[in-house]
Amino acid sequence: MAWHKAASVSQLDDDEVVGVEVAGTPVAVYQLEGQYYATHDICTHEYAKLSDGYVEDGCIECPLHMGLFKIATGAAQGAPVEVDIATYPVKVEGDDILIDLPEG
Ligand code: FES
Repeated sequence: MAWHKAASVSQLDDDEVVGVEVAGTPVAVYQLEGQYYATHDICTHEYAKLSDGYVEDGCIECPLHMGLFKIATGAAQGAPVEVDIATYPVKVEGDDILIDLPEG
């Protein structure tokens, strides 16, 4: 695992998501009630960027077929999504939001 800068605190307001590419991995970075989270940015159902979706009640709603994933855990919330999305540890240093990505 290795820490990478993914986004800036100043980029995100509450209940917002931003899509970034970190070391070749598409990542969605979120702010929920002052806490920051990161998940893989591609839906596990078909190809859609979750960062183009909507944050609601602690979940991200996929823009393509409205599948829901819990942002904090990546847990798929039911049809049409059945496979959880990967989540990544997050830490904040100054204005930098860092995420811990698996190597390789
Ligand atoms: Fe995300 Fe279908 S691609 S719910």
